Amino acid sequence: MRRAFVHGLMATAMVFSAASAAFAAAPSTMPANKTAAQDDWWKHAVIYELYPRSFADSNNDGIGDLKGITNHLGYLADLGVDAIWMTPMFPSPQVDFGYDVADYDNVDPQFGTIADADALIAKGKGQNVKIILDFVINHSSDKHAWFQQSKSSKTNPYRDFYIWRDGKNGGPPNNWTSLFGGSAWEKDPTTGQYYYHFFYAQQPDLNWRNPALEKAMFDQAEWWLKRGVYGYRLDAVGTMFEREDLKDNPPAPGTDAFGLPEQNRINNTEQPEMHTELQKLRQNVIDKYPGRILIGETYVSTAPELTKFYGAKNDELQLPMYLSLIGLKPITAADLRPRIEAVESNPVGGWPCFALNNHDQRRSTSRYDLPAGTTGDDMARIMAAMILTLRGTPILYYGEELGMLNNDPKRVEDVQDIIGKKGWPKEKGRDGERTPMQWDASVNAGFNTGAKPWLPIGPDYQTRNVAAERADPNSVLNYYRTLIAERRTNPALAGDMTMVDRSNPNVLSYVRTGGGKKLLTVLNFGGTASDLTLAQLGGGKIGRVIVQNRTTVTANGLHLAPLGAIVAEIN
Ligand code: GLC
Ligand code: CA
Repeated sequence: MRRAFVHGLMATAMVFSAASAAFAAAPSTMPANKTAAQDDWWKHAVIYELYPRSFADSNNDGIGDLKGITNHLGYLADLGVDAIWMTPMFPSPQVDFGYDVADYDNVDPQFGTIADADALIAKGKGQNVKIILDFVINHSSDKHAWFQQSKSSKTNPYRDFYIWRDGKNGGPPNNWTSLFGGSAWEKDPTTGQYYYHFFYAQQPDLNWRNPALEKAMFDQAEWWLKRGVYGYRLDAVGTMFEREDLKDNPPAPGTDAFGLPEQNRINNTEQPEMHTELQKLRQNVIDKYPGRILIGETYVSTAPELTKFYGAKNDELQLPMYLSLIGLKPITAADLRPRIEAVESNPVGGWPCFALNNHDQRRSTSRYDLPAGTTGDDMARIMAAMILTLRGTPILYYGEELGMLNNDPKRVEDVQDIIGKKGWPKEKGRDGERTPMQWDASVNAGFNTGAKPWLPIGPDYQTRNVAAERADPNSVLNYYRTLIAERRTNPALAGDMTMVDRSNPNVLSYVRTGGGKKLLTVLNFGGTASDLTLAQLGGGKIGRVIVQNRTTVTANGLHLAPLGAIVAEIN
């Protein structure tokens, strides 16, 4: 058994190199995105998440900055990125690396100035790369002027911008715990009351039940829209409201990484009021500016919960991200298919939005046990073939297109992310997926000119970098570029999607149809090789191959080694 398996792999590896010439070559320049000019540009866009600290450090202080991003806009345009979502670059004590915002109307000096932000927006416009910011709606920094006012006295006009309560029986008001460790309540000595924080104590939750807070937040959102940004990714949407009566959460099995019993957070997440509020944000702010969008960090466990975020009349978020594919471990076709289909067929006709990587999750190249004989690059390719051919908007994460790996801290002393310090070794934090972008083989991978980067550069940077991969026709980067070019030009990838071979537990296959063209995607997530007939895959003949990896076209079908992937036209 085992021998045959190993043989199968070697055979396909040989055919693979012989067949590689049949790939569509990556384009030397990215073709125009035909739909980019329309109001629903975001339906056919590639969105790219970028972590400013880690993208490019223009002033060589070890931390990435806005000028660094502006300097590399040409790279993003060449990759076929239509919009970037930048994680927070507002002034912040950086306790949660920007997700603790101290002033929404400004830029943190370590990232640059408002003039730098304006320059980025303007240059982006010239290159057809739209800028989307991160709007942290659940909380601010405890250093925000609002909170400083709020904590100063019980009668301060900003008191109700946050959630203050008296303690109970000498302890906090209820049993809610913070996702980032400990009680979700912090006692403040000035007034003796407790304030609520779903995340760190330095991130007090905003009180959306207060109309004055709502107005202040809507004004902030508008401030950047007026400067030309194309909308927002809304942070931690599900935590926006909590039950007003502060009902305790029921216990859940086990202990969290910080030593407290787990609980089922039914009373402080996913409260129905958030939908009304998000609809207001959409109508009163976003829709005043044509083409502007709301993307949501919407971690939900079922498709019906995701559907709610579109709004019953498609009047809420245009792109609530479906993030549940990230949590599948192992990742199997049997698990992927019903989830994708459920998102696809949501009853309100909302447009799907998928992400497989982000700044809070292990990179997909390092997330799974790899089948024997495969590498992270094969995982990168199968994931690319999936996310770039599904019906829906893909959100890529910087470095994903290079097949970058997690570079996890080995010692607690090296950890930057506080949850990693507090939760070590059970929770090592998120440093591993946030290491600097790898541009070239020079010092610090071209991230800067030699100052120690805030996180260590991946040890593989001399070969895994933009310059090397751009020059190598078989690189992960050119695999992405080929697929993105196809998205921009092939009407099938703007058309319908039908799953085929639906009972296959190992191989996920679907056909995209549009403009008289048909495109077939076949992805072997199984641990063994698979032979499939074309009849099984919906019929027709394999035509032009867009990309293929660990796959051979056989007399009447396809042979896919584990992690084998192919995207091809069907005639
Ligand atoms: C979101 C962000 C994460 C941050 C948290 C608190 O989940 O993606 O990075 O720590 O919100 O703002
Ligand atoms: Ca810098």
